[in-house]
Amino acid sequence: WQAPALALLIGYLLGSVPFGLLLTRLSGGGDLRKIGSGNIGATNVLRTGKKWLAALTLLLDLGKGAAAVAIGAQIVDGGGAMAGVMAFIGHCYPVWLRFAGGKGVATMMGVVAALYWPSGLVFAGVWLGALYLLRYSSVGGMSAAVSAPVGAFAFGHLEFLPPFLAMALLVLWRHRANIARLMAGTEPKVGKKTDEAA
Ligand code: G3P
Repeated sequence: WQAPALALLIGYLLGSVPFGLLLTRLSGGGDLRKIGSGNIGATNVLRTGKKWLAALTLLLDLGKGAAAVAIGAQIVDGGGAMAGVMAFIGHCYPVWLRFAGGKGVATMMGVVAALYWPSGLVFAGVWLGALYLLRYSSVGGMSAAVSAPVGAFAFGHLEFLPPFLAMALLVLWRHRANIARLMAGTEPKVGKKTDEAA
């Protein structure tokens, strides 16, 4: 049991590193949780006006998901999915932030792409496509998350259905404030600064 437990633990710890929060603080931008939606992800870093920092946050949050999969797969058979899902959970519920973490879209993409790259491509395409068309980061992220289990099913890779479906459902759950704002017509579009709290 030690090897699976190690894979789960390493995955969680990797995922729980809040890159958006750390980078914003290091760059002198203060506490990201007091800016915009209060979320610790790349979208909210973008609201500080620092585009490169947002891009770096996206890359690192994505990278930690992919790294967890790669490391988990080395530790034990099937450890990639276990560590990847735990990295996703670590991002959403990091012990360091009293379990108040992010919404998981970037980390989920890293995990999905590392487990099964065609689903990663679909994820990226749906994310960018929805973002380009609708300009809501949350809608792009939620659509992309849902595309992962749908894609795994369509491609006939049913072994990825449980982890992808679990992460997609959690992404939707983590976006409940965004969903409420979308329904109220108050969700900010990408590119606009806002002081609205989540
Ligand atoms: O990945 C997070 C994004 O979908 C929404 O972020 O800051 O607009 O709540 P935010």
